[in-house]
Amino acid sequence: MQFAKRLQPLQTNVFADMDQAKAKAKASGQDIIDLSLGSSDLQASEHVLAAIRESVSDKSTHGYLLFHGTQAFRQAAADWYTERFGVPVDPETEVLPLIGSQEGTAHLPLAVLNPGDFALLLDPGYPSHAGGVYLASGQIYPMPLLAENSFLPVFEEIPTPVLSQARMMMLSYPHNPTTAIAPLSFFQEAVAFCRQHDLVLVHDFPYADLVFVEDSGETPHPKSEIQNPKLIAPSILQADPDKEVSIEFFTFSKSYNMGGFRIGYAIGNAQLIRALRQVKAAVDFNQYRGILNGAIAALRGPQDSVHNSVEIFRQRRDAFINALHRIGWQVPTPAATMYIWAKLPEAWANDSVKFCTQLVEKTGVAASPGAGFGKAGEGYVRFALVHEPAILERAVDRMAGFLR
Ligand SMILES: Cc1ncc(COP(=O)(O)O)c(C=O)c1O
Repeated sequence: MQFAKRLQPLQTNVFADMDQAKAKAKASGQDIIDLSLGSSDLQASEHVLAAIRESVSDKSTHGYLLFHGTQAFRQAAADWYTERFGVPVDPETEVLPLIGSQEGTAHLPLAVLNPGDFALLLDPGYPSHAGGVYLASGQIYPMPLLAENSFLPVFEEIPTPVLSQARMMMLSYPHNPTTAIAPLSFFQEAVAFCRQHDLVLVHDFPYADLVFVEDSGETPHPKSEIQNPKLIAPSILQADPDKEVSIEFFTFSKSYNMGGFRIGYAIGNAQLIRALRQVKAAVDFNQYRGILNGAIAALRGPQDSVHNSVEIFRQRRDAFINALHRIGWQVPTPAATMYIWAKLPEAWANDSVKFCTQLVEKTGVAASPGAGFGKAGEGYVRFALVHEPAILERAVDRMAGFLR
């Protein structure tokens, strides 16, 4: 059997290798502490579950949901954005529900790239961003994110021949895996750059809420931005309020612990929303109406569960970082996300995959190798804070023995 060439780059995946190493360690009797997946272990709120339960009993929700979801969902998303970021949004033309933001970010390149066109992606970055470009037969130009540049890309370094063939740039802050936050001034620069070079600006924004605001003395923000909490993790639409070039992706997976429910939305430039809708119309019939109702309840209902989640991840972060410091691993305290991005000790600096496979084999602690997120991720490892503090501390204790 012959398969399409576009499948080739999707076949090598260090995370699949890690899964194998994890399974092998488990089979050999290791007690696994899995810190490799950013899948929240916290529960969706009761009022969200109640809205979904009620929908399930209502047979009017059981049919296909055509077009672009429900008006109530689009309005709730538009209102949430306007309230939070001060950007007016037209629910009819500027919002599109998605089956998770991964689905939307992976489908968007089909709408904007012709075969051979370049997409400018963050390196390291979220693997499905690259996957979507490969599926659209595009080319990737990786923009390296270095600690000395606060993990922000340097636009001036993009070669002119690449730029002349580039159609889109993908950003995502607060950033998985580096945990960096981008200030609004950086987004303004990005919007101006994309306008100048006629690029679509895509912003994947899953960690909008997972920001540890009062610790922000550690962030690279100018003081004026810290004083306004809404600007700590800015929306790209704040930098492009007329939505000339930008589209943003929001998900309910992180803020509302609804990862398994598969619900998110795109918001931004009306032409881009329509183009993405056209791609999706060929592929799916939208998310189930009951899940949309749960998402409306999440956006319109009490937000204390969001604040609780942030507090839980802050406690986990502090426990893990303090434990790492106790064993002599100096890792900076992240200001956002549910991850720790740790520079590997010298002995492992060029082989994060080997570090992670041996770590899980010898200690049962599973982490994600930096190289899995891109070439510039080599030399790092990502830990997802998806267990309680006591388990995270146990994981660090085991690593202490391994590192010795
Ligand atoms: C940057 C980024 N984008 C997208 C996703 C997936 O979001 P969703 O569950 O909405 O598909 C994740 C999940 O970890 C992520 O880190």
